Amino acid sequence: MKSNIGVIGLSVMGMNLALNMADNGYKVSIFNRTTSVVDKVMKEHNHKNFSAFYALKEFVDSLEKPRRIFLMVKSGSPVDMLIEQLLPLIDEEDIIIDGGNSYFKDTIRRERSLREKNIYFLGVGISGGEEGARFGPAIMPGGDEKAYSYLSEIFEKISAKAYGEACCKYISTDGSGHYVKMVHNGIEYADMQLISEAYTILKTIGDFSNEELAEIFNDWNNSELESYLIEITSNIFKVKEGEKYLLDLIMDKASQKGTGKWTNLEAIDLGVDISVITAALNARFMSGLKDERIKAEKIILDNNEKSLAKNDINKKEIIELVKNSLYISKIVSYAQGFKLLSAAEEEYDWNFDFAEISKIFRGGCIIRAKFLNDISDAFKSSSNIDNLIFTDFFSREINLRLNDLRKLISMAVERGVAVSAMTSALGYIDTYKTPRSGANLIQAQRDYFGSHTFERLDKEGSFHYDWIDSYDE
Ligand code: 6PG
Repeated sequence: MKSNIGVIGLSVMGMNLALNMADNGYKVSIFNRTTSVVDKVMKEHNHKNFSAFYALKEFVDSLEKPRRIFLMVKSGSPVDMLIEQLLPLIDEEDIIIDGGNSYFKDTIRRERSLREKNIYFLGVGISGGEEGARFGPAIMPGGDEKAYSYLSEIFEKISAKAYGEACCKYISTDGSGHYVKMVHNGIEYADMQLISEAYTILKTIGDFSNEELAEIFNDWNNSELESYLIEITSNIFKVKEGEKYLLDLIMDKASQKGTGKWTNLEAIDLGVDISVITAALNARFMSGLKDERIKAEKIILDNNEKSLAKNDINKKEIIELVKNSLYISKIVSYAQGFKLLSAAEEEYDWNFDFAEISKIFRGGCIIRAKFLNDISDAFKSSSNIDNLIFTDFFSREINLRLNDLRKLISMAVERGVAVSAMTSALGYIDTYKTPRSGANLIQAQRDYFGSHTFERLDKEGSFHYDWIDSYDE
């Protein structure tokens, strides 16, 4: 009997997805370039629905048609190499699925070149880490819709469910699934940085212990902030190694694999301000400069007396300020992510349903959060939204808490505590709500030194002024 689907690449994500599909009743052929990995998987998980293969041809021949071949290998050249190896073995109308964190432009290129050969290629964003892959990830499939119809049943079955709905929905053509996953990761960076800033303020200004922090985050997880990242943060605060908290022993250098960088490069390319996500990326860069930061503390001397004072803090008040600031900043970072998606839709000729994309994010993935229901509702209520922060619900949420964000940032600034992502969120809101900005001066300068022309408020057209020598000394 032929298998329903094949998985190539049995590292953590591939193996867990294969197990998830097998548990859901699908016959799964598995293959890995390093054959000892196949043996290991079969030894550890000899699933009745698994068929193991040591040769690519036999693996391909074991699949029912049209063949569904799931690549779960490292993004980049390994994907291209595998496609090359598969091409002589597969038939027209077979479907190759790339479930890795591939760069969306690679996906667009691969889809185009395979389409010319009449082979389908789906670029599928999968989020949720090991646990998600095993028991239900969020799935963002992009590519040919007909090809997707051969996968929809499997994907919906293995995906996470939120509020009774599968966290999987066809996104749009070619690289759109990987694009949405990339933006998910950008938002993930922002979420994590904002939480880390909340932690830093509560720890340094509020003087809260890890035990208290665990409780605060636990309370927050029963509020509008309810989310996976808040939940795991509360758990992290509780872990001890002997007498010490593990968190206090972890080096403060954050690593990254690149998707947050891609999101920012894209935003620059499309001219979209995603400042909270950018601040999160920069914070990771700066975190890496540990030795320089230790030196800087001794060189840049802070004479600010507030930086030492802890007794003028009302603990209850600071918890509320941080909570509200975290929530507004989070709204801004999601709004920025969706703004980027909206620009991408136009740039790459995709057709996004933002209400549905928000729903996918509600379960399985790293950024899953209760307020994605509100985001989905906001997009559902109007198809033509300039920005999520303008919607009735979110503008109200922001207006209720904006003073708290200002207060908290002032507090942090006075005490020399870096909160760059929250500061970026406030800057974004303030920039947006400034109908008359200082950009008139930039236009005047550009025209002064380069005759770049400017528009006027009092008449239509494009103007140049002969600035030099036309002012009083
Ligand atoms: C997910 C995650 C995952 C990502 C890790 C690490 O949605 O499951 O986004 O895809 O690889 O979170 O990313 P960084 O190493 O860049 O932090």
